[in-house]
Amino acid sequence: MVNEKPNPSPDESHRIATTDDIEVSTYLEIAREIGGEQSVSAPEAAPGAEREAIIVLDFGSQYNLLIARRVREAQVYCELMPHDTPWEKIAPLNPRGFILSGGPASVYEKNAPLAPAYVYESHLPVLGICYGMQVITKQLGGKVTPGTRREYGHAVMHISEEESPLFSGLTESTTVWMSHGDKIEQMPPGFEAIAYTENSPYAVIGNKKNIYGLQFHPEVAHTPEGRNILKNFVYKVCGCKGNWTMGNFVSESIGRIKEQVGDGKVINALSGGVDSSVVATLIHHAIGDQLTCIFVNNGLLRREEADRTLKVFKNNLGMNIIHVDAIDRFLNRLKGVTDPERKRKIIGEEFIRVFEEEADKIGKVDFLAQGTLYPDVIESVSSFSNVSAKIKSHHNVGGLPARMTLKLLEPLRYLFKDEVRLVGKELGLPEEMVWRQPFPGPGLAIRCIGEVTKEKLEILRGADFILMNEIKKANLYRQLWQSFCVLTDVRSVGVMGDFRTYGYLAAVRAVTSDDAMTADWARLPYDLLARISNRIVNEVDGINRVVYDITSKPPSTIEWE
Ligand code: XMP
Repeated sequence: MVNEKPNPSPDESHRIATTDDIEVSTYLEIAREIGGEQSVSAPEAAPGAEREAIIVLDFGSQYNLLIARRVREAQVYCELMPHDTPWEKIAPLNPRGFILSGGPASVYEKNAPLAPAYVYESHLPVLGICYGMQVITKQLGGKVTPGTRREYGHAVMHISEEESPLFSGLTESTTVWMSHGDKIEQMPPGFEAIAYTENSPYAVIGNKKNIYGLQFHPEVAHTPEGRNILKNFVYKVCGCKGNWTMGNFVSESIGRIKEQVGDGKVINALSGGVDSSVVATLIHHAIGDQLTCIFVNNGLLRREEADRTLKVFKNNLGMNIIHVDAIDRFLNRLKGVTDPERKRKIIGEEFIRVFEEEADKIGKVDFLAQGTLYPDVIESVSSFSNVSAKIKSHHNVGGLPARMTLKLLEPLRYLFKDEVRLVGKELGLPEEMVWRQPFPGPGLAIRCIGEVTKEKLEILRGADFILMNEIKKANLYRQLWQSFCVLTDVRSVGVMGDFRTYGYLAAVRAVTSDDAMTADWARLPYDLLARISNRIVNEVDGINRVVYDITSKPPSTIEWE
């Protein structure tokens, strides 16, 4: 077995083939070589790391982060990288295989993005998904043409090559999710069709050198056996060992943080949310009292939230915490403000001020810890992220003090939200903290429609407390992405006892979602809704009517403001 390391020369490594400049003959050569007798080879482990990684090259599909999540769920580290990433950036991760993502382009169009030469020259396994499959087809000498009609939705895939490692443990016929316009007319030399659907003779193609193409999306829930296909690819085709566990992550991170921080000082804005709590705990495990957390009570928190957070972090975990009661400062600045974006801006600005003032009091600080997560990182590097119309400016309190000249410490930078929760569990954080639903930085201010006042906030807190209590009692808290009350500025007439009332209308919002990009309103049981409504109207002075929000996102958003 030839065990050669993929070693494209530096200037060659970044060579991206586009349909304009591609020398198809080059790829035909590669295709022949790959289809020939040479063995597949893999690089040696990157120095200093017992790493293995699957690299997803991003061609712009809306599902591509999901591919990375699925691979990580199979305990193999996976990163999504722009499709034109140079080899030097990939090599240190010790790649074991490539996945070429789907994407909106057509390979036969001018300037269509294609894969860098190293993908094929490395001799590592490759899995092309949808557009990625067409990229492989084009680059290795096959033919892709526009389909006569788009194929979108469910299809039944039949396996014709049962021996393929990609299909290990799969049923012979399985449902898959298609979403494509172009189709393969001719496979590249050396490839065979190993599964088909009624409309696609080439639902899955592969060659003897571990290059595969899938016409469908294995990463979406609509392909029920998709996870197994991806798992087979990473284990049976790429030979991964599966060492991406949160236990390993925690021990590696602690070492890395110690090394990075040395005897420096770190500050962190603790909000009580999952991300900032996990960041604080992880760093505290690594450097103890060199970390100081600043907890700002802006008066826009849920009932009992501030006390609960302080209790866990100060009393139970023994962290250095500065508790700033800034309730009046925030509420004064919000006086008379009704525009949601103004509210966000004011809260963001005031937060920076308070945070900076407190940080100044600490003296010399070297690092600012932030709970940046992988989807934020991807958003900022993706070559396909288009500047879409700004719907809401999401100020994340953890990410604000840009003026401060501190070095950033972002230990969760490569994690998905579900992985962050597992890290929290691993670190021994209470369940209640680990599974906390997301809570927006501007807090109750954007759930209190119109002007934010102390009185309205108290009414909202009362209603929200009852809602959360009932949701938790019904064991639904974890299944819901978010559940909360909104205090509208609508008042309506009611009757309680023999008296006329004129009170606020409260809205209950409960949604299911994976990532907040889209969300569906939760089908809460009627008797639960009835209990919530009864209790709110009976127990909260000022509310005499409750409605349930039955809109999804889109067209609505999750928060009302
Ligand atoms: P929307 O309302 O845009 O919310 O559907 C999507 C997710 O973002 C949260 N959200 C915010 N988070 N600052 C934040 O930190 C904000 O200004 C903000 N606005 C909305 C919202 O709770 C949901 O999870």
